[in-house]
Amino acid sequence: MTNTTTAVSRRSALALGGSALALGLSGLTAQAQQVVKVGLILPMTGPFASTGRQIEAAAKLYMAQKGASVAGKTLELVVKDDTGTPDVTRRIAQELILNDKVSVIAGFGLTPLAMSTAPIATQAKVPMVVMAAGTSIITDASPFIARTSFTQAQSAATMGNWAAKNGVKKVVSLVSDYAPGHDSEKFFAEAFKADGGEVLQSLRVPLQNPDFAPFLQRVKDAAPDALFVFVPSGVGAVLMKQFIERGLDKSGIRLIGPGDITDDDVLNGFGEAAVGTITAHLYSAAHPSALNKAYVEAFKKANNNMRPNFMSVGGYDGMHLIYEALKKTNGATDGAGLVEAMKGMAWESPRGPISIDAATREIVQNIYIRKVEKVDGELYNVEFATVENVKDPVKAGRK
Ligand code: PHB
Repeated sequence: MTNTTTAVSRRSALALGGSALALGLSGLTAQAQQVVKVGLILPMTGPFASTGRQIEAAAKLYMAQKGASVAGKTLELVVKDDTGTPDVTRRIAQELILNDKVSVIAGFGLTPLAMSTAPIATQAKVPMVVMAAGTSIITDASPFIARTSFTQAQSAATMGNWAAKNGVKKVVSLVSDYAPGHDSEKFFAEAFKADGGEVLQSLRVPLQNPDFAPFLQRVKDAAPDALFVFVPSGVGAVLMKQFIERGLDKSGIRLIGPGDITDDDVLNGFGEAAVGTITAHLYSAAHPSALNKAYVEAFKKANNNMRPNFMSVGGYDGMHLIYEALKKTNGATDGAGLVEAMKGMAWESPRGPISIDAATREIVQNIYIRKVEKVDGELYNVEFATVENVKDPVKAGRK
């Protein structure tokens, strides 16, 4: 906290110094003002590096497609690696605001990283675009936050309704033991039970270096109709490997969950055992729209054939939100004005139609029910049902 206050008051002092300078060096300052910086803070190394890689690639693709010039300003992206460590994220945010004079901070690959930084956005009055993290409370942590990713509750509740109505009666749930896992567990169970389902056991595994084996043994012994799983993007491959090694794929226990488990970044490496996995999620690289086909093609072309995943669209759409907000303010970078401009924005994303709820700054989007299938020799999440315009269940009633 002390650090934060220092950062902000130093920032004001610098700003004052800046305007005094501007009087004498108006030409130079005018030139400097042409650049609007966006600080993109992501885990580029460590277990969640795939999230950073995907979002950075998508943000850069958006800028390459639209050009860096927006509302008479030149947009500059400053990318920083927070290694997935909350204290580092917060420190980098402070430095970006104080030293680099960024007008927007963006990224935030995990919930704890977003939560540690939210007070900085509030105190510095700098918009914070959450492009990845998915716990419902995040948008309540600062009035300067807008989210272009998802909430776990959106997918988990949709999965709960679908499962109960489609022959799944008994479930064991298995989630990473931190906030988005707790949201997944809670909102799945509520929806599933409301439609007549029964949760036999709710298991939680450590977020860091999880060993799923003992938990999967308990699942096997409980013999539910389905195992509901949430692990964050980047961890799904480990779980799937152990699921298969333990023979759960052949035990008749279906694998269901939010789509983090069948992440497009790693899905194609899973092999035949993943075929048939049913998930509820916001994005599939196989989403059958013209916009998405063009997106996947351009993304792969620019990134050595890497397939875009659901994290990537959070980055791509986050850049769109920043560009369009700047257009609305005619290039003005006042934080409150930019956030105001973001509220209620609606557009077509590669994932489908999306909007930013004006009352909550939360994303509203379709949630698709998908099944892993082999298409042209590759594994994809093939969408077969759509629940339209899903609001975060926690905030659904807010006006
Ligand atoms: C999160 O920490 O909020 C998070 C990270 C990765 C996911 C989902 C949620 O796949």
